[in-house]
Amino acid sequence: MKKKLLSFLLATTMVATLATGCGEAATADTGADEPAATTEETTEETTTASGDQTVGIAMPTQSLERWNRDGSYLKEQFESKGYAVELTYSDNKIDQQVKDIEGLIADDVDLLVIAAIDGESLSQVLADAKDANIPVISYDRLIMNTDAVSYYVSFDNYTVGKLQGEFVEKQLDLANAGDKTYNIEFTAGDPADNNAGFFFNGAYDVLKKYIDAGTLVVKSGQTDFDKVATKNWATDEALKIMQNILASYYGDGKTKLDVALCSNDSTALGVTQAIESDYWGDVKDVIITGQDGDVANLANLVDGKQTMTVYKAVANEAVATLDLGIALLNGETPDEGLISAAGWNFDCAYDTESYDNNVAKIPSYLLVPTVVTKDNLEKELVDTGYYTLDANGYPQATN
Ligand code: BGC
Repeated sequence: MKKKLLSFLLATTMVATLATGCGEAATADTGADEPAATTEETTEETTTASGDQTVGIAMPTQSLERWNRDGSYLKEQFESKGYAVELTYSDNKIDQQVKDIEGLIADDVDLLVIAAIDGESLSQVLADAKDANIPVISYDRLIMNTDAVSYYVSFDNYTVGKLQGEFVEKQLDLANAGDKTYNIEFTAGDPADNNAGFFFNGAYDVLKKYIDAGTLVVKSGQTDFDKVATKNWATDEALKIMQNILASYYGDGKTKLDVALCSNDSTALGVTQAIESDYWGDVKDVIITGQDGDVANLANLVDGKQTMTVYKAVANEAVATLDLGIALLNGETPDEGLISAAGWNFDCAYDTESYDNNVAKIPSYLLVPTVVTKDNLEKELVDTGYYTLDANGYPQATN
């Protein structure tokens, strides 16, 4: 009962903080726009222990904007409950992340929260975590091929892609297209990230019938996930790939690109740059999708260069992880009941079927993503306190 009340208060306080836009509790680097104050390998430590329990948080990299937000929200949430926190970033280097997690285990952390760089490379180090009786929450990305993962917290990843596909379907009114045809190209995420396939499939499953019918045409012929994947979700990689596609299939000065379906914002940024520099038409006439609400992409939304992004409130993902983490630290085995007991002010589904890591189906808490366009940006992101508008009308993150 006490825990329920604490969780509720935390969720309420967090929402209130965000709603007023105070963002006080958030202290970390917001990412792309700011110079990195620390090196990626730096492990931050705090000493505010409650009951001497420590939470080890392993994030992939500070170079992709959202993970800065995740890291700072998670750290702040666990610290607000009196836990000590060790937070690592591993520069998108798989070996570095293994070392960082080994370090957290050696430091005797009581709980691990891990967003994996490569979901398939942590089996050995997580076997060590299991031996040391440390529960593991797979954060945002599912960790594969291990029996050491207790729970998964993420957004509904398939729905993220589905929202992108449905957005395109609606914008072009594909269901009533008649003889009209439109050209589309796909850019997906890192194949080492288990989420990337879910995003791609979610979008592709909506659009496939229009591709089959010839309403949507993929001039490059690249419709397989493996073909359109982008290593490390890197902007410069997405830029190069799209430049090649544009040169090979849209270089005649008249073949129109109608849609660039990009799985997330870091790839959308590269694709947008390629379209601006290497395409004969106007970037504003191309529907470009994304995901995350990175500051540079929101500026593109305002300028009409990117058409939509799927926003995932990582502040809420951190709150869900906190309540789940507390339950695990207390030796409980949470289930669906956690959602109502915690009294979260956001929607979350408990799913024991969808996420199989090749060893077991991992019980998952899945939050709900939101479509953001130029038209609802202020309502969804500014009025809710996640971002403020700067003097030029561009969104800036509040944490
Ligand atoms: C996350 C996305 C993010 C991508 C690249 C994925 O695992 O779910 O939000 O855009 O990684 O950082």
